[in-house]
Amino acid sequence: MYKHPIGFKLKAMRGLVENRLARRPLSITLELTRRCNARCDYCNHWREQKQTEQELADFVAVVERFQPWAVTICGGEPFMRRDALDIIRAVKHAPGFRYVAIITNGWLLTDERCDRLLETGIDQINVSLNWPDERQDADRKIPGLWKRIAHVVPRLVERGGNVQLNSIIMNDNLDDVVPIAKQADAWGASVMYTLYSELPAENTGHLFPTARQGRLREVLAELERLRRSQGNIANAPWYFEQIPSYIEGNVITGCTAGKQTLHVSPGGMVRPCAELPPVAHFSQYDPEAAEPVTCTRCFQACRGEVQAPITLRRVAGLLAT
Ligand SMILES: C[S@@+](CC[C@H](N)C(=O)[O-])C[C@H]1O[C@@H](n2cnc3c(N)ncnc32)[C@H](O)[C@@H]1O
Repeated sequence: MYKHPIGFKLKAMRGLVENRLARRPLSITLELTRRCNARCDYCNHWREQKQTEQELADFVAVVERFQPWAVTICGGEPFMRRDALDIIRAVKHAPGFRYVAIITNGWLLTDERCDRLLETGIDQINVSLNWPDERQDADRKIPGLWKRIAHVVPRLVERGGNVQLNSIIMNDNLDDVVPIAKQADAWGASVMYTLYSELPAENTGHLFPTARQGRLREVLAELERLRRSQGNIANAPWYFEQIPSYIEGNVITGCTAGKQTLHVSPGGMVRPCAELPPVAHFSQYDPEAAEPVTCTRCFQACRGEVQAPITLRRVAGLLAT
């Protein structure tokens, strides 16, 4: 599995301390576009009308304004934009430290684009994967997608890329969640899980019925064991511990969206998160002045992982990667 060089870790730690002291947002997601080549039944981006999309300089201006510690390039499918690689390079190389990652469904990762992506200096490449075999094609409605992912992930790893699978835990793929961690390990990649949310497409079809809650607890316990033994599961133990409680109906407050984590839409509007409506143009948005969100309607990793307490065990885990 990928290990950051010690010099990079020191720079990252220093950047993190400076970011916290200056009370700037920890992380910003830049949605390059909402256009997408996939047709997932749990996400509606691909159904939306085409929106105005900012230019490269505007994305850099977002980063300069908020100076986050981390930037995630996302979408829609970010590679639907021809200038995605130019934007990534510009965001990575704007002055100051930042950890730049991308989330992609992987379909548009040709060998040539993989090489050019690594050349941008990107810190982490997240490839979404909910099924460890051809069922991934039906999940995304992209025939051949599993084969493409199974080719590009080990190829990126071989060429020095830091690759992480992004996997949704949902009722229908529950028995495939552990095999995904093992597949990631075999490829030399890590994996970050997120709990399914019905919000993006108002689709309750993948939620956990009460009868499956016992099995969910077993799978989470197995993931926690693998996290310790295999070392390639990026989630905080706290996140896994909280999931059953959330599923059983307990309210988990304290979402930091809009303050520590921001989403910027393709047109430059800030939304606290992908599921909440736009509140202001990025040039007008002040995270310190923003009211904390009171939403408790999801427990996706983008909120759970940020809320997870910073424990010694977690810091040691982060330093080991
Ligand atoms: C909206 S996608 C955009 C990036 C890219 N097109 C992709 O598919 O990876 C970002 C991430 O959100 C996840 N996602 C989409 N719908 C979700 C849902 N309803 N619940 C939890 N995660 C979801 C996807 O699996 C993906 O890892």
